[in-house]
Amino acid sequence: MRASTTTITFLLVLLLILYPTATVPTPPPATTDTVPAQSPSSSSTSATLDPQQLRALQFLHIPTTHGFCSQFSCDTATPFRHLLSLRLTSCSSDFHLSTTLLSSLSTLTSLTFLNCHIPVVHFPTSLSTNLHSFTSINSLQRLTGVFLSRFHNLTHLYISGDPIKASGIHIITSNMKSLNSIILSNTHLIGYLPKDWNPNLTYIDFSKNKLKGAIPTSLTLLKNLKVLNFSSNNLIGVIPNSFGGLISLQNVSLSSNSISGPIPGSMSSIPGLVHLDLSSNQLNGAIPEFISEMKELKYLNLENNHFHGVLPFDTSFIKRLDVFKIGGNDDLCYNHSTISAEMNLGIATCDKHGMPILPPPAFKEPSSSVSDLVRGGGDEGDGGDDDTEKKNQVHVNRGPSKVLLGVAIGLSAMVFLLIFLILLFKC
Ligand SMILES: *[C@@H]1O[C@H](CO)[C@@H](O)[C@H](O)[C@H]1NC(C)=O
Ligand SMILES: *[C@@H]1O[C@H](CO)[C@@H](O)[C@H](O)[C@H]1NC(C)=O
Ligand SMILES: *[C@@H]1O[C@H](CO)[C@@H](O)[C@H](O)[C@H]1NC(C)=O
Ligand SMILES: *[C@@H]1O[C@H](CO)[C@@H](O)[C@H](O)[C@H]1NC(C)=O
Ligand SMILES: *[C@@H]1O[C@H](CO)[C@@H](O)[C@H](O)[C@H]1NC(C)=O
Repeated sequence: MRASTTTITFLLVLLLILYPTATVPTPPPATTDTVPAQSPSSSSTSATLDPQQLRALQFLHIPTTHGFCSQFSCDTATPFRHLLSLRLTSCSSDFHLSTTLLSSLSTLTSLTFLNCHIPVVHFPTSLSTNLHSFTSINSLQRLTGVFLSRFHNLTHLYISGDPIKASGIHIITSNMKSLNSIILSNTHLIGYLPKDWNPNLTYIDFSKNKLKGAIPTSLTLLKNLKVLNFSSNNLIGVIPNSFGGLISLQNVSLSSNSISGPIPGSMSSIPGLVHLDLSSNQLNGAIPEFISEMKELKYLNLENNHFHGVLPFDTSFIKRLDVFKIGGNDDLCYNHSTISAEMNLGIATCDKHGMPILPPPAFKEPSSSVSDLVRGGGDEGDGGDDDTEKKNQVHVNRGPSKVLLGVAIGLSAMVFLLIFLILLFKC
């Protein structure tokens, strides 16, 4: 496979989207009910793709089979149909785009690049304004905020793993009046969070950037927002008091920032919260009891903060969750008459005054391998989810198993060496 890298391989997937046609004065092409009396150009009933677009696809080495549009997404124009959706994946290194080529594809409303490491080129205005969905994952190089801002009509913008040169997110989004979901993850973005948001936004993911400043209060007006992800940035300040205004919120992560202050009480009015990740910040205060009344909650991560007081949860609440993490909060403790010590939460038990009995068991005076593991899980932040997920359950076993693995590898290496030497001698 590696040897044939010179050949260009693409995967073309055309999503079946019906093009929202305006009132068409002429009747549509022959349906299955009527006899195709007047279809002079094509021999089959399936319409033909625009010849210019056909050439563009051939230039891109995308196989253009007969009856293309019956398999993939095109509009219903006559006599020639036009492409609506194009997905370029795993491009070879000698592939390149040109503005002329893109001009002939300007009917596209959805364009996706996946693992296509190519420098970005100028997009013709017709294509820029037609696009409703634009995706670049580990693909376009030298993206800029100004380039992206020309896509006025986007409802979905998804960039991941491709650095974007822009002085702030507002440069990109301020003209996008129909934006519905925006993912700009791991894109080296700097600057502050925008203050103006489209009220129809349902999905915001700005994770793994270098965004600074506080979470603007204006964000909490987004009544349709379902997913909010600001994890792994440099955000400071408090969680806005009006955070509970995000009444549609299901999944939220503010993890791995420097956010301080308490969990705002208004959060209790978010009815459908499923996933709450506030880990690795400087949050303080008591953990509010209302969290235990969140019926939909499945994931709760509050580890590595400065919460204090008695943990307001019992065993049945914790067992109901898929993920529960609370370690790394030194002033927090649990009541051993409501939570069994076997849960191994990584915090101390409380004395009768509700203060932690120091030092917390298994966390403050363990062997070095365990404390390394705990520290590793805490500082890392980035995508540490998988790593830290089972930490509380399995951390005691990991150290010894690693040692065992090392011994096993060492032993087998020695056996191999021995066999090798014996063979050498026999020869
Ligand atoms: C796209 O946006 C322009 C303004 O930037 C507008 O005139 C045009 O009607 C929009 N087109 C679509 C298909 O939404
Ligand atoms: C939000 O969505 C509604 C209905 O989907 C639409 O009527 C309205 O124009 C949208 N608002 C904005 C600012 O895009
Ligand atoms: C937030 O983004 C990070 C990194 O991209 C990801 O690991 C995490 O699952 C996301 N969390 C939510 C709630 O979407
Ligand atoms: C929301 O969180 C739940 C629980 O962690 C997860 O199963 C689900 O995939 C998440 N949904 C989105 C859109 O991130
Ligand atoms: C622990 O729980 C028991 C039983 O609910 C209660 O009587 C006691 O006051 C609690 N202790 C603390 C420190 O909260």
